[in-house]
Amino acid sequence: MDVLEVDGLVVAYGQRTVVDGVSFAVREGEVFGLLGPNGAGKTTTLRVVEGLLPALQGRVRVDGVDVSRSVMAARARIGVQLQSAALPPELTLTEILMLFSALHGRRISAADARRQLADAGLGDAQSLRASQVSGGQRQRLALAVAFVHDPRLAILDEPTTGLDPRARRGLWELVTRRRREGRGVLLTTHSMEEAQALSDRIAIMHHGRILAEDTPPALVANFAADPRVRAIAHGAPTLEDVFLALTGAEVRS
Ligand SMILES: Nc1ncnc2c1ncn2[C@@H]1O[C@H](COP(=O)(O)OP(=O)(O)OP(=O)(O)O)[C@@H](O)[C@H]1O
Ligand SMILES: [Mg+2]
Repeated sequence: MDVLEVDGLVVAYGQRTVVDGVSFAVREGEVFGLLGPNGAGKTTTLRVVEGLLPALQGRVRVDGVDVSRSVMAARARIGVQLQSAALPPELTLTEILMLFSALHGRRISAADARRQLADAGLGDAQSLRASQVSGGQRQRLALAVAFVHDPRLAILDEPTTGLDPRARRGLWELVTRRRREGRGVLLTTHSMEEAQALSDRIAIMHHGRILAEDTPPALVANFAADPRVRAIAHGAPTLEDVFLALTGAEVRS
């Protein structure tokens, strides 16, 4: 079963088309990595899935629910990692989790909230206010908020940018747990290491189009003999070599 289906998506800002016929699906229990250079259209794609931006063409279904037809029902199935600036600064971390859970129609006790904070590596910060914790801690809080209503699909846009190595591994562990629990995760990252560590499948996006999609080992194997990859690789080709080779040349339409 697919928790997300994106089919022929076209999105424009004014006259400028920035997502140009994108299709992919995220399955239950799958982590799907959307990779691409700055400006590729990744965040724009996520914003349409989140129901925050209309599509010009194409269809997006979350757990079978069409986002353009039933935006509230679709959103109820999605967990979004908010920008940490969007978290209420005067509430404690425990209160914030209880608040967002209630907003999703699912009340949790303070003990439940504290347990989820501990899972997110925030056990010692549970009584602090959002304004009193570090940037990395706020980021982990935003992730705990994304998961608080146990959504079918979590959408994480560069979730580990700015985290220290230990915090980053902690976040990887949370994502991997979601996968084990049969939930879907759609994430973007500029770290090839992270994409490989977390993703069951990867799509490489460039100028609003998906150029390749496969499991990380298959992506590397499929393009290992490509002359553009061979020209870049130092030794055995890596995912980064494939990424650079595919996104280096301008797309001719
Ligand atoms: N609100 C907006 N209005 C107009 N153009 C926008 C807007 N947001 C993004 N764009 C443009 O759309 C294109 C895709 O941007 P998007 O944010 O989707 O890229 P991205 O793949 O997420 O890049 P990054 O890796 O830098 O986050 C860019 O050229 C950007 O300038
Ligand atoms: Mg982006």
